[in-house]
Amino acid sequence: MASVPKAMGGILIEKTGDSSVLQWKTDIPVPELADGQILVKNEWVGVNYIDTYFRAGLYKAPLPMITGAEAGGIVAAVHESVCGFKPGDRVGYLDPARGAYAQYKAVAASKAITLPEGVTTHTAAASLLQGLTALTLIREAHHVKPTDWILVTAAAGGVGSILCEMISSVGAKIIGTAGTPEKMEQARKNGANYVISSRDPPEKIVSEIMKITGGHGCDGIFDGVGKATFDIDIEVAARKATVCTYGNASGLVPPVDVMRLAGGKNLKLCRPTLFAYLAEPEEFEQYSTELIDMLKKGIVKLANTTDYKLEDAKSAHDDLEGRKSTGKLLLQVPQ
Ligand SMILES: NC(=O)c1ccc[n+]([C@@H]2O[C@H](COP(=O)([O-])OP(=O)(O)OC[C@H]3O[C@@H](n4cnc5c(N)ncnc54)[C@H](OP(=O)(O)O)[C@@H]3O)[C@@H](O)[C@H]2O)c1
Repeated sequence: MASVPKAMGGILIEKTGDSSVLQWKTDIPVPELADGQILVKNEWVGVNYIDTYFRAGLYKAPLPMITGAEAGGIVAAVHESVCGFKPGDRVGYLDPARGAYAQYKAVAASKAITLPEGVTTHTAAASLLQGLTALTLIREAHHVKPTDWILVTAAAGGVGSILCEMISSVGAKIIGTAGTPEKMEQARKNGANYVISSRDPPEKIVSEIMKITGGHGCDGIFDGVGKATFDIDIEVAARKATVCTYGNASGLVPPVDVMRLAGGKNLKLCRPTLFAYLAEPEEFEQYSTELIDMLKKGIVKLANTTDYKLEDAKSAHDDLEGRKSTGKLLLQVPQ
């Protein structure tokens, strides 16, 4: 194992703003290990929408900051208080403390998993955050049943693609939305039974969903778009449905009048976050073990990934926010 340098390259955000604030620097101190931590030499970093929220200042964090919550790489050093990891181990991690857009990251050992044979560091960085989000949504936010009608917005996107794969493996019927003919085709490949253009007017989207479901509506709604689609969600929800609004790609959902949940339908509304589902180490272990099993069985395929250089994180953010991307975006870390 090569010795750990004092300085590293990474994307440092000194002020919040548009993607131009993502600056590549080569003189960032390598983090020192604290109790319970391992130092990971990142190989691949996963790009997630939450990275853009911190970059833009929608979610607050002290500056300067390194964004990024997930990566796959090699353990470079281990704090003496940690057992179960050693230098040279291949690991994936998911850490709400951010700091992944860099060559090295100090991670709580409880947020990392050793990767089994056949699961690459690229796969770990591509699947942990979005895969565990999809898995906890279909288990905890709305436990999907084979008889359900489910609406998945952005069904060709990162979380949306994995949601479609997992939900179709349960046997439920999926209505997906997507923004271009190519994305609509991708959503079908992901397992959506019906696909509607997300560029259609809301009234048209509502009437198509009600027609497809024979007037029943959707029993579960997984919506990562947020502000632009929330009203559609409430309209197309079936009686006793769960409306799960889990993201803000189009902006924050404004405060909701709870009486909108009554209206003869007795709706359940939730706004979950992955990290609150994984607060206990056993929860992370249980769900990550199940996700790896789904990767091995081919339920989650990660068939659609796009790689960028870490130094060019700006292009990845531009494509994600510009609705140009499908599937998972990753950053390759210079070694
Ligand atoms: N709650 C949690 O713990 C959690 C965890 C992970 C992700 N998330 C959320 O899940 C959502 C999806 O994340 P992702 O990384 O997988 O992104 P993504 O779905 O790959 O990208 C966002 C997609 O949203 C759609 N969209 C519709 N209207 C939009 C608008 N006005 N602006 C931007 N996008 C719009 C676009 O798809 P079309 O063009 O096909 O319509 C776009 O490609 C994000 O909101 C993210 O914050 C939440």
